[in-house]
Amino acid sequence: MARAQKYLNYIGGRWVPAKGGKTFPNVNPADKKELIGLFPESGPEDVDRAVEAAEGAFPEWRLIPPPRRGEIILEAGLLLKEHKEELARLMTREMGKVLRETRGDVQEAIDMALYAAGEGRRLFGQTTTSELQNKFAMSIRMPVGVSGLITPWNFPMAIPSWKIFPALVCGNTLVFKPAEDTPLSALKFVEILEKAGLPKGVLNLVHGGPSTGEAIVRHPRIRLISFTGSCEVGRLVGEHCGKTLKRCSLEMGGKNAQIVMKDADLDLALEGAVWGAFGTTGQRCTATSRIFVQEGIFSKFKREFIARSRRIKIGGGLKKGIEMGPLINEVQRERVHDYVEIGKKEGAKLEIGGRFARWKGLERGFFYEPTIFTGVNPKMRIAQEEIFGPVTCLVSFKRFEDALRMVNDVSYGLSSSLYSRDVNSAMNAIRDIEAGITYVNGPTIGAEVHLPFGGVKNTGNGHREAGETALDIFSEWKSVFIDYSGKLQKAQIDVD
Ligand code: UN1
Repeated sequence: MARAQKYLNYIGGRWVPAKGGKTFPNVNPADKKELIGLFPESGPEDVDRAVEAAEGAFPEWRLIPPPRRGEIILEAGLLLKEHKEELARLMTREMGKVLRETRGDVQEAIDMALYAAGEGRRLFGQTTTSELQNKFAMSIRMPVGVSGLITPWNFPMAIPSWKIFPALVCGNTLVFKPAEDTPLSALKFVEILEKAGLPKGVLNLVHGGPSTGEAIVRHPRIRLISFTGSCEVGRLVGEHCGKTLKRCSLEMGGKNAQIVMKDADLDLALEGAVWGAFGTTGQRCTATSRIFVQEGIFSKFKREFIARSRRIKIGGGLKKGIEMGPLINEVQRERVHDYVEIGKKEGAKLEIGGRFARWKGLERGFFYEPTIFTGVNPKMRIAQEEIFGPVTCLVSFKRFEDALRMVNDVSYGLSSSLYSRDVNSAMNAIRDIEAGITYVNGPTIGAEVHLPFGGVKNTGNGHREAGETALDIFSEWKSVFIDYSGKLQKAQIDVD
């Protein structure tokens, strides 16, 4: 048997094993017998070394002119583009989603690189007036310092890129811990930045699981934590950052809804529902896990939706024609399945799915069938909690206001969608849905990088990644006053 390839951490510009020498395996979720490699199980001492390296690199990096920082990011974007196909293939092997989607994941990182690189020549502050004569006022952005980034497995390059590129252009130095299930994609991403000319110590990669993440969150010399993951973990991160007054940005779950009005283009709404609910095997924080369909078209929608969902081709994501890959791991599959059991016990009607997909060729992967519930009461757990799998609830409603009430009656508020040809319902949805994102005549998934990404209520803690708003996470404002009057001028006092 071939020896498993051992991969390393990247600290201070060197590829190094974890100090304790421990490793963890990474397997292909479409075939758990396929070992992708062994990765360092890093402890607090490794995090410590990474922080030291990031601290060491900070004084120089913060003084590199932002346009130059942007050039390195641009170069990384061009390298991602050059290697897009091989990166997508590798990502499908380790994460499971189909090749078209992993190409999209790399593309999102390329888009973010181009966007963040341009920020190198903007990073706008304000110049404004002063209440006093011969005094000048402006605001500028400053880096925060050593930042800890913790990312999930569902977008192995896109989500790290949302954090790393804006953080770098702002002048921070980083300790980055990717999810245990997708360490190789993260490592390739870091290699690309190394190749693009990022100075040593500016970006440090530390592999590991929850305890490694905890060591980062608890590290007293890390000033900022940016976390994407579950609400459960986000709460712990937020609690600690609250206690230690660490800057903290949390991006967590969703229970995203699609509303379909009677006047909608039914075909378009169906296409959007299938893609929103089952794209990425439902493992997006933006996935459509509730679909509200107006009475009058409900039966037809249901029939068609079920028929189309049954036709989804499940299998290994590298194979041609496959539309839905496996879930990420066995724990996640059990979790999804537990929710299906809960739904059944709660009295919802399982229309299709609710089973491990185990037919020939799929036995060794974590596959699960597209699952649709009807007869769902919006208070049921399956209609309230994030499942993160190919499970969706179909619910009928009478009036737009009824749908709106149910859409908003959850603890999350990330994405939402309305299908209608009526501009009035569209405008009402935009105004009244409690979510960070609303699509009109599009599914709940597919945000673009140059707009703010994030949500309200328990989805986050008020920050927005991507777009210009990402800069607010990764920089501190400084207000600057320059008095050229040559005398002491007292604000608020010398104004008469
Ligand atoms: C996520 O699921 O955490 O909007 C991110 C989308 C993708 C990003 C999803 N661009 O669906």
